[in-house]
Amino acid sequence: MSAATCSTGALRGPARVEINEVAPRDGLQIEPIVVPTDAKVAFVDALSACGFARIEATSFTSARAIPALADAEALMHRMQRHPGVRYTALVPNLRGLERALSCRPDEVNLVMSASETHNRANLRMTRQQSQAQLLAMIAEAGAAGVPVNVSLSTVFGCPFEGEVDVGAVMDLAARFADAGAAGITLCDTTGMAYPNQVAAMCERFQSKLPQTGLTIHLHNTRGMGLANAVAAWETGVTRFDAAAGGLGGCPYAPGASGNVSTEDLVHMFDCMGVQTGVDLKALLGIVGGMSGLVGREVHSQLLSAGPRLRTHQAPAWLAEHFAGQG
Ligand code: COA
Ligand code: ZN
Repeated sequence: MSAATCSTGALRGPARVEINEVAPRDGLQIEPIVVPTDAKVAFVDALSACGFARIEATSFTSARAIPALADAEALMHRMQRHPGVRYTALVPNLRGLERALSCRPDEVNLVMSASETHNRANLRMTRQQSQAQLLAMIAEAGAAGVPVNVSLSTVFGCPFEGEVDVGAVMDLAARFADAGAAGITLCDTTGMAYPNQVAAMCERFQSKLPQTGLTIHLHNTRGMGLANAVAAWETGVTRFDAAAGGLGGCPYAPGASGNVSTEDLVHMFDCMGVQTGVDLKALLGIVGGMSGLVGREVHSQLLSAGPRLRTHQAPAWLAEHFAGQG
């Protein structure tokens, strides 16, 4: 148990969860500066020592769309692979899959949006075109022996269209699961999700697709990130995406801001007595250096406040004021 642990009472969800660290991809894709490859390699290598189940190291997108991650191959070849970690990468199309497969990922994370307008803005394809590419990619990755996860963006709301039809989200998930995707990630791309919505969607997913690994990807745009994580966890969800330092956001989603921060999520689960496998102290050490990595101040609530049992010296005047009062 870590120093932050203060578990009291029965757990209302799984005793163990897995964290997929997405800062190298979802975080660095939106930063205004391009982080040099050397610094990215050092960042991923440091994260690899923290105990994450997965690290989403980069994306194989067009350099015009996401210039910050144009060095995907170099990063994948140069980072040190830690035995306990699965390294994955985001892939939007067949061209990206071919590039990814040349780098021996442990799995690939395909992506499309549940809403038409966001899919067109982000991927420059209709949903139908994306779906066709993804089905072909599942077959190609399967033939190469690489497991596939599909991330569905904007499932809890679209910044262009508003509410998104849950039935259509479930149909899309089922289509990819039937085609061979081992996992699906339900993404709250712009922080529109709220807790009972998340719980209802997770319950529906797990009853419809009990064999398919479910991951939840949350942004803290409106401050509901951790509440949504707890809501998902209480329905039995064990896999969470999160970004160190709360980095992140989609460049094609107006108003998008950071992912739920990994240190907040790990600290919360530590407090609750839920195992994450992540070394919070090591992670905070990395977060402390992230302002240097991205060239701007990275504000982390947990780094500022410390874990909840970090105590402080009482004011010096107390001893004198209460002298002799036991
Ligand atoms: N990797 C590298 N280059 C790629 C590529 C890929 N995966 N896919 C396409 N390209 C190149 C093409 O070769 C072409 O290059 P050229 O102009 O030198 O001939 C150019 O990009 C345009 O190709 P096209 O098929 O017309 O793609 P597009 O411009 O319609 O863009 C995507 C489609 C999907 C590649 C692009 O929108 C993209 O990468 N989006 C990712 C968005 C993202 O990651 N968002 C955040 C995470 S959800
Ligand atoms: Zn995201």
